Amino acid sequence: MTGASSGIGAAVTRRLTAEGGWRMVLNGRDATRLSRVAAQASATVFPSDHTRPGAHRQLAEFALGHLGRVDLLVACAGIGWAGDFSAMPEPAIDEVIDVDVLATMHLVRQLLPHMVEAGSGRVVIVGSFAGTVGVRGEAVYSGAKAALGAFADALRYELRGTGVGVSHVVPGVVDTPFFERRGAPYRRSRPRPVPPERVAEAVWCAVSRGRDEVFVPGWLRFPAWVRGTTPALYRRLAARFG
Ligand SMILES: NC(=O)c1ccc[n+]([C@@H]2O[C@H](COP(=O)([O-])OP(=O)(O)OC[C@H]3O[C@@H](n4cnc5c(N)ncnc54)[C@H](OP(=O)(O)O)[C@@H]3O)[C@@H](O)[C@H]2O)c1
Repeated sequence: MTGASSGIGAAVTRRLTAEGGWRMVLNGRDATRLSRVAAQASATVFPSDHTRPGAHRQLAEFALGHLGRVDLLVACAGIGWAGDFSAMPEPAIDEVIDVDVLATMHLVRQLLPHMVEAGSGRVVIVGSFAGTVGVRGEAVYSGAKAALGAFADALRYELRGTGVGVSHVVPGVVDTPFFERRGAPYRRSRPRPVPPERVAEAVWCAVSRGRDEVFVPGWLRFPAWVRGTTPALYRRLAARFG
């Protein structure tokens, strides 16, 4: 599990622990916070920074070596950046793409062949509603999460018949340190932030029921549907109610 040291990833760790029977390797950057989460889960930690070269390979090798096999990858690590794209510093663009897109794809690339060979497994990718509709002031983040959604879809087609599933979990706004860390608090009145435990429940639902896509909260699938079926109407509504 990536992103396990905070917010949604820590909640998913607690949810899997409550379910029982999962041996976990937890990844994040902050070794102290990661160890705190792991202590409640009797999991093993492998702290690393996904922007460092080879980080995904080292994490995959550690997980395979420690666990023997990997049945589930929850790719949850992610960062945001808020503001006008025309003012976004180049290194910030690179970091969002590195952490949110490239690290996830590289890690899946490392672990997937082992799952296919075993004939079972599941990859859960934590995307964002921003990637479904595009959010003003979050151009790169929206693009990064849209890339993950398309990646999950394409991978699912490719893996048909292999026994390996791909789930895309799509949260709206979640009450975690995410906003504080990106340096811009969440100020809108809608959608209201949900606790990270709601997303953890959705991840568990995706794993236990083999769901392809889960929105959190569930009603977000309706604006997603409007955006998909009548994009012009959605754009008009989004421009008006923003
Ligand atoms: N919060 C929301 O409203 C929301 C909504 C939709 C989607 N999401 C997505 O949900 C996921 C989890 O976010 P969250 O809300 O739980 O935020 P969070 O509390 O800030 O957690 C982010 C996690 O990603 C890890 N991470 C960040 N940069 C990393 C790097 N360079 N290398 C390794 N790990 C790194 C962090 O590790 P450290 O803490 O150790 O640095 C932390 O564990 C993200 O993919 C986010 O895009 C969040």
